[in-house]
Amino acid sequence: MVDNAQLQARAEDPSEFHVVDCIAPFNMGTFDLVLGIWLLNYAKDRTELLTMWQNIFHSLKPGGQFVGVIPNYKILQTTACGQEYHFGGVTYKVLERITEGTRIQVVLDTTDPIAFFCYMLEPGLHEECAAQAGFSHLRWEPLPSELDVDLGPLFFQIVTAAC
Ligand SMILES: C[S@@+](CC[C@H](N)C(=O)[O-])C[C@H]1O[C@@H](n2cnc3c(N)ncnc32)[C@H](O)[C@@H]1O
Repeated sequence: MVDNAQLQARAEDPSEFHVVDCIAPFNMGTFDLVLGIWLLNYAKDRTELLTMWQNIFHSLKPGGQFVGVIPNYKILQTTACGQEYHFGGVTYKVLERITEGTRIQVVLDTTDPIAFFCYMLEPGLHEECAAQAGFSHLRWEPLPSELDVDLGPLFFQIVTAAC
């Protein structure tokens, strides 16, 4: 993924590319904006989620903003093992209930279907961890409808936070 980003970067682009594990503390400097697109859903429990939120907070300048995209917890009517949710070209399958969340398999019904595992942790846990990390304003928003996402906009949601 980083190789692709490097290939696509323009020659005059001053971007740097690094690979870091976001469930361990790191210090890569501070920025105006942090994007976490499909990232927070890889935290499997409170400890990992708190570390991710702390890394995000410490990577922002005062007044900086975080924007993330994660699966929408609210679509889970029941978290019974094996339960499937289909919308557009996305399937979520509940694999197991865990403390404060659910482990799921996501399948994107693309030409070559893409399947991966991740976690849907309770929104309240995100709010607690974000507050503990130092954020005071966490907001949940649906994906904007003008985004032509045919993989099921209800299945994703945006989370934003400001320092
Ligand atoms: C579904 S992809 C999304 C990638 C990219 N944000 C995008 O929108 O195209 C999720 C990525 O998160 C990475 N990832 C998972 N756990 C991680 C962790 N603990 N630290 C850093 N990256 C992680 C995976 O390797 C994968 O590249």
